[in-house]
Amino acid sequence: MTIAELSNVPKHVAIIMDGNGRWANERGQPRSFGHKQGVEAVRTVVRAAGEVGVKYLTLFAFSSENWRRPEAEIQDLFGLLKFFIRRDLAELHASNVCIKVIGDRYRLASDILNLLLEAEETTRNNGGLVLVIAFNYGARDELARAVQAIARDVEAGRLEPGAVTPEMISQRLDTAGIPDPDVIIRTSGEERLSNFLLWQSAYSELMFVPEYWPDFGREQFFEAIARYGNRVRRFGAVTPPAVAGSQA
Ligand code: IPE
Ligand code: IPE
Ligand code: MG
Repeated sequence: MTIAELSNVPKHVAIIMDGNGRWANERGQPRSFGHKQGVEAVRTVVRAAGEVGVKYLTLFAFSSENWRRPEAEIQDLFGLLKFFIRRDLAELHASNVCIKVIGDRYRLASDILNLLLEAEETTRNNGGLVLVIAFNYGARDELARAVQAIARDVEAGRLEPGAVTPEMISQRLDTAGIPDPDVIIRTSGEERLSNFLLWQSAYSELMFVPEYWPDFGREQFFEAIARYGNRVRRFGAVTPPAVAGSQA
């Protein structure tokens, strides 16, 4: 699969990066080894997304439910995010990547919060790929925070309850201003969303691939983009049937 063969490239690709632990287990290694290798896959896929002309790439890095994991593993994952930003921020900035973070950032420790803010601040005016990092993110938590914001507006008399629209809800989500994902890819063979972008995925194409995240590279990414190109999206409407001999 080469870039030239790809058509109908999605504007926004979101990825549930799953399977680091199993990848490591199969190699007789601790889960942390898989997470470390997962960071290399992030690098590869960010580059590939930029090359192929994807405009938004959202990566699910830590869910609001991942706090249920052992403390040592949580610390590993936080350490790797810090490592990734410290090591790659300059290069991402030089490549014109704009970083955005979604999730409940204000419940994070100050060192990690400051790094995330620095990454956003440094790259805020970049016009290239928008890399959205979902960290301490859960769709239900995000929706609850949006509902709180709406309730505050109603309480203050700025908004009538009957005037609330789907667009207003979208504007109060962490993803405000970011188009809904065209495709959500999940690696490792699991076929569920695990509380990822529940509102935004209303019409996303879902794609489940067997590779564990550390094994998901350029080739697999391009393959997924090619598969997306063959999907027919209807958004509730009907696709006009192809008419024989028509020029349309
Ligand atoms: C994905 O890999 C990374 C995160 C969830 C942070 P996992 O750690 O979930 O790996 P598996 O699914 O247990 O193999
Ligand atoms: C989803 O993966 C979260 C991330 C990829 C960050 P999990 O491994 O946490 O999901 P479940 O627990 O298998 O549903
Ligand atoms: Mg998992």
